[in-house]
Amino acid sequence: MLYIEDVSVSELAEQYATPCYVYSKQAILNVYQDYSDSFATIDHQICYAVKANSNLAVLSVLAEAGAGFDIVSRGELMRVLAAGGAAAKVVFSGVGKTRDDIEFALNQGINCFNVESVNELILINEVAEQLGKFAPISLRVNPDVDANTHPYISTGLKDNKFGIAHDKAVAVYSQAATMSHIDIVGIDCHIGSQLTEVEPFIAALDKLIELIHKLAELGIELAHVDLGGGLGVRYIDESPVTIADFAGALLPKLTQLNLKVFFEPGRSMVANAGILLTRVDILKPTEHKNFAIVDAAMNDLIRPALYQAEMAVIPSALPDSVSVHDMPSWDIVGAICETGDFLAKERLLSLAANDLLAITGAGAYGMVMSSNYNTRPRACEVMVAGTKHQLVRKRETVEALYANEMPWGNKG
Ligand code: LLP
Repeated sequence: MLYIEDVSVSELAEQYATPCYVYSKQAILNVYQDYSDSFATIDHQICYAVKANSNLAVLSVLAEAGAGFDIVSRGELMRVLAAGGAAAKVVFSGVGKTRDDIEFALNQGINCFNVESVNELILINEVAEQLGKFAPISLRVNPDVDANTHPYISTGLKDNKFGIAHDKAVAVYSQAATMSHIDIVGIDCHIGSQLTEVEPFIAALDKLIELIHKLAELGIELAHVDLGGGLGVRYIDESPVTIADFAGALLPKLTQLNLKVFFEPGRSMVANAGILLTRVDILKPTEHKNFAIVDAAMNDLIRPALYQAEMAVIPSALPDSVSVHDMPSWDIVGAICETGDFLAKERLLSLAANDLLAITGAGAYGMVMSSNYNTRPRACEVMVAGTKHQLVRKRETVEALYANEMPWGNKG
């Protein structure tokens, strides 16, 4: 029988129905603690990347544990505040901050804007001047380092839209130093996501250290260095570097640097704290393939369709006697009218209609990337702590999906 903490997933499915995302509170806290312990010898701040899972329950658990947050929109900042997070521990990333975003963030008193272009810097200075405030900034430097990850989630190459080119950074810092309402506080990078090796992080850090020294020579002193997020997780058989080894590799350089260090982990904090529970609706064996049509679909979890991501699928109860090698191979698919609507391919499973399955590793970039395609209400979300469980987001209703629409000619 499959359990999440001390609650069986079948009990959860009975109570909340499926599809349903379930998160373990303790699993999230364990990773946060692992980061904190691993970097305990230096002054650091974990700024959880809200985009990975922005449910208020997740944010509130992390806020209470002392986490800061990495946000990419005004909306994410509003969520952080609603969950009890402190604006003073928030860093604001993203290539397209609007005047409205900047104004709101300045008024809330965020810790730092991670600036991605000269024009953004000019805009931030302008808005800060209008508000009579100083805007704390870091430049997000694009170190041109290959993160060896899926091209859609690689962000530190010079062909990517992110950051300010490494060889332009000193000039842009010098320009920032002349701006009346800009307060230079740090330097930042983020090279990609689902990185399994530590070498690209070290290469990026080396490039930042080189810049930090050059800036010091120009009299530009920084208070922090932000290494972004990106640490990978095991979905099926990957062997990502552990948090402790990641820290072990970076600490000698960071200790010598003697600046406060920020990290922006998203996936590694929550991916393996969450599952997507789904029920088999219809089994459709064909001559060529066996399809198990389940009640979750690409609108609930788009990672397999979008990145060819492979995520494990496990049954809620294992059959007593069948060996996995004798089990048939199934494609686990949704009911959406797209061939790309699959959650997993060619998995050896012993399945019957109505079986309950868990897609693991679904705590990150699952619910947050869901949509209403095919007018499918989004799943509910539940958090478990020990024997307790709580609905943390209601299942949507179909009526709510078109509540903001009106037929043509209807003035209401
Ligand atoms: N900081 C910045 C500036 C980022 O752009 C990201 C993620 C993070 C931190 C967090 O990175 P993490 O620790 O989660 O790797 N939807 C994709 C992943 C997109 C990541 C985008 N940026 C997926 O499902 O694989």
